[in-house]
Amino acid sequence: MFMKGKRVVVLTGAGVSAESGIRTFRDNDGLWEDYSIEDVATPQAWQANPGRVWEFYQARRRQLHEVEPNPAHTALAALEEGLDDLTLITQNVDNLHERGGSRQVVHMHGQLETLRCENSGRHEVRMNDADLIDEFLVCTCCAEPQRVRPDIVWFGEMPMHMEEIYTAVEACEVFIVAGSSGHVYPAANLVNIAHANGARTVLVNAEPPQNFESFDEVHLGKAGELLPVLVKEWLSSDA
Ligand code: APR
Repeated sequence: MFMKGKRVVVLTGAGVSAESGIRTFRDNDGLWEDYSIEDVATPQAWQANPGRVWEFYQARRRQLHEVEPNPAHTALAALEEGLDDLTLITQNVDNLHERGGSRQVVHMHGQLETLRCENSGRHEVRMNDADLIDEFLVCTCCAEPQRVRPDIVWFGEMPMHMEEIYTAVEACEVFIVAGSSGHVYPAANLVNIAHANGARTVLVNAEPPQNFESFDEVHLGKAGELLPVLVKEWLSSDA
């Protein structure tokens, strides 16, 4: 389907970073096979055992220096380049969309490369070697330096940028989901909002997700293989 001139929203999940070597969450080799969400991805876990939470995220932050964007990321950057109106929303906390060339990325679940001051709530990029150790770190924004936390939306916390996200999803004419299992809300409901507002909904995923019936068009396979081909088609008028 030809997309030039249309308002397009893309929502990505862990599946688009899988071919870069970053583990997904719910595949059989996913992160939630080895760690329980309650232990490492909730505010309660941070209160009860901050060291374990901190080490879980520091390991994932260190990995950012070892991975590269894959063709799924570069294809989505090409789509942004080729369209006048694209909003890229990601559930992913890695920086591979940006490193793959995407200029505007809405991180609804936070980001690994920034850390957040627990006192002021301000966040800043902290990716030097000294920032990647397993000891706790402090902020640079308070007179009395305060402990910083991962700048991640944990389960039970409000996702970020939701007003901007709902505005874009309600107004879009095409809504594409790539690499997400459709397990986690409110992200998993965005396709239904788009559909209710008349958008054409497109899925690119390795297997049928939870919210499979909400899609008009389904492409099953690897995002790194499918997206480069699909983006060419979406941008060429003779498709
Ligand atoms: N290409 C396309 N899809 C893939 C690939 C691939 N190479 N590899 C895996 N997938 C698909 C899987 O089939 C699965 O449907 O990507 C999806 C990954 O699902 P999850 O692991 O549940 O990741 P995601 O949907 O992003 O999880 C959402 O849950 O734990 C929270 O905050 C975390 O942002 C995350 C949220």
